[in-house]
Amino acid sequence: MTRPSIFSRFLKADGSLPLARQLSLTLALIFVAATLVAGVLLHVIFSAQASAQIERQSQFFMDSMLAVREYTSRQVNPIVAPLNDQGTEFRPEAVPSYAATSVFSYLRSNPAYQSFSYREATLNPTNLKDKADGEETQIVEAFKADPSLKVLSGNRTMALGTFHYVAKPIRITKASCLVCHSTPERAPKSQLLTYGNSNGFGWGLDEIVGAQIVTVPIEEIENARHQSLVITSGLIIVAFTLVGLVTNAVLKRLILRPMRAMSLKADEASVTPGTVEFGERRRADEIGLLARSFERMKQSLVISMQMLKDRQP
Ligand code: HEC
Repeated sequence: MTRPSIFSRFLKADGSLPLARQLSLTLALIFVAATLVAGVLLHVIFSAQASAQIERQSQFFMDSMLAVREYTSRQVNPIVAPLNDQGTEFRPEAVPSYAATSVFSYLRSNPAYQSFSYREATLNPTNLKDKADGEETQIVEAFKADPSLKVLSGNRTMALGTFHYVAKPIRITKASCLVCHSTPERAPKSQLLTYGNSNGFGWGLDEIVGAQIVTVPIEEIENARHQSLVITSGLIIVAFTLVGLVTNAVLKRLILRPMRAMSLKADEASVTPGTVEFGERRRADEIGLLARSFERMKQSLVISMQMLKDRQP
């Protein structure tokens, strides 16, 4: 009775396929299934890693800018502010926002950070270059609408590609800010000479006036993710192909070749058992076992044939 091969379901095979072909097909099926599963898993893992990397990078960037602001507020402003009160020339170095955006512009002159951006987008800014654009205004409005919101992040598609942004609200928490941002009368005269008296005023304590927005390009990280996916998938395919080739070669050498040889010898033994030798019987494995059985059968055949011959008159 022939047992149905595992392919009978897929290929309607009834063992008529050579073993090597059956093995190749099994391996091919396992290979395709494993590659699909691995591909999906790798995609998920690499995507999560890329997102985490983009988020970390944006967050680090934002924190660095906050540190620059803090340094200017605490250490530079006390030294420079008196100059602004006396002179006719305004020294913007005293302004935390100016320090942060200036440090950023130096950072950006490094080609590695060319497509990064840092903005202190404000609805009613002192320096008009800080005026919030359409999307930035939406972000600021979202912070104003929900004061408990500490951070917003997402992707922004712009002319130069897709960018990830992280935004934090700018809230006026110190009364000292209002010296320059409440009414033109309170602001240093030197500031009015440089920035005029029509914008950047009327801010109130605890009011959210704008948002710090950091954008980092995601193209590079996405490309790196894509590359990792292609390389890893390629390695998996190479590994599977090698396993398939080696398994096939081993199967041929250890099982198929000796089986075919034994089958030829068994054919020959059915006619002239005395001349046939099953050399494979010296093997310790199952092929050796089979060869020893054939050898015993051959011996019995030799004896039977001899007895038949002796009985003949
Ligand atoms: C000495 C006056 C002065 C003080 C004090 C001051 N600012 Fe400003 N602020 C300015 C000037 C001038 C600018 C524009 C700087 C530039 O050219 O980038 C500015 C810019 C800003 C900006 C960017 C948007 C814009 O208006 O251009 C924000 C946000 C801001 N300040 C918030 C604050 C906060 C918060 C404080 C308190 C911690 C503060 N400022 C204290 C003078 C001041």
